Amino acid sequence: MPYPLGFSAAREIRMANPIRRIAICTGGGDAPGLNAVIRATVTAAANRGWECVGIRDGYNGILQPERYPKGGVALLTRDQVRGIAHLGGTMLGTTNKGDPFHFPVPRADGTLGETDRSGEIVDYFQREGIDALVAVGGDGSLTIANALHRKGLRVVGVPKTIDNDLDKTFTTFGFDTAVSFATECLDRLHSTAESHQRVMVVEVMGRYAGWIALHAGIAGGAHAILIPEIAFDLDQVANKIREREAEGRQYSLVVVAEGAQPHHGQRAVLAPAEIGHAERLGGIGEHVARDLALRTGKDARVVVLGHLLRGGSPTSFDRLAALRFGAAAVRALEQGLSGVMVSLGFPNVNYVNLEEVAGRMKAVPPDSDTLQTGRDLGVCFGDSAANPVLN
Ligand code: F6P
Repeated sequence: MPYPLGFSAAREIRMANPIRRIAICTGGGDAPGLNAVIRATVTAAANRGWECVGIRDGYNGILQPERYPKGGVALLTRDQVRGIAHLGGTMLGTTNKGDPFHFPVPRADGTLGETDRSGEIVDYFQREGIDALVAVGGDGSLTIANALHRKGLRVVGVPKTIDNDLDKTFTTFGFDTAVSFATECLDRLHSTAESHQRVMVVEVMGRYAGWIALHAGIAGGAHAILIPEIAFDLDQVANKIREREAEGRQYSLVVVAEGAQPHHGQRAVLAPAEIGHAERLGGIGEHVARDLALRTGKDARVVVLGHLLRGGSPTSFDRLAALRFGAAAVRALEQGLSGVMVSLGFPNVNYVNLEEVAGRMKAVPPDSDTLQTGRDLGVCFGDSAANPVLN
């Protein structure tokens, strides 16, 4: 349940221990807006007379100090965070391989094992007099943040991911930038697809959720959009392409989310999950393009946007959301909250329990009006009455 700003959850209050020093870390895949969160957190903390330190590469700065000759944890001053809000990436670095609860350790036989090193994080905070942590990340990083909170750390989470698949927040920062870039790419692809009378298949990231594909596909005028939430049948997409041809439109744009899955088939996986690393998705675009070329007899090409979606400057929406999130994280700590995530609501940000977010994925709901808008516009989602919506 969301806490409005200014709400004090009695069970979370630890006013007896005023804050003097906090830490911030960024984890998981990077997303445009991370530097803006860091800037807002450091500045809002400094304005309260608190010191803020940054942990390098998730928690690796604490767990593997030998990798950082200049220090795995460093003081962040106002000067260091000036003029960074518009920059992509994260000045602290990030990793999606450093879960302290399942930290990878090489075994003698060359394989990888894992060990729980989370206690070292708690000890470090105590030893160094760090009163609280601002953890910026997606599902994985916020699950870790919640577990650290349960181990006794004072923690506030900030929702980040281009995938927009975090629950209990209207959106995450990074998503708008990814959608804007993908939309611009689709705008550019219309003319070349039309000139060559081709089918253009555009594969976008998003993991197991179709938010990027759906939003960019509709904004960018795609004719078919394939998302993980709807099992697709390429016969339906081929029919759509043929219908367009019959109406004199010789080209089609198809957006496919990396996690989309055929009705009678598997997800395209580039690398299976291994210790310390989630499964890597990718390759579905190639499959769809090849198959549609065979079914329609048309030339088809595939464009994989991949990590380009994570790069570049945040849009003003993401930049502002990230600045609001960073400042709200500091206000949450000031109010004595812990174990919460800053969440974007209307008109204000609010706070939700990390417990309600950790391990939960927000998929595109079947009754989404954006999905319905696509159907009203004649977009093909690869489904039919005989091929029901998943989830
Ligand atoms: O979660 C963000 C994301 O970009 C996903 O959309 C994608 O599946 C994954 O990260 C890629 O991760 P990596 O950086 O390991 O290639």
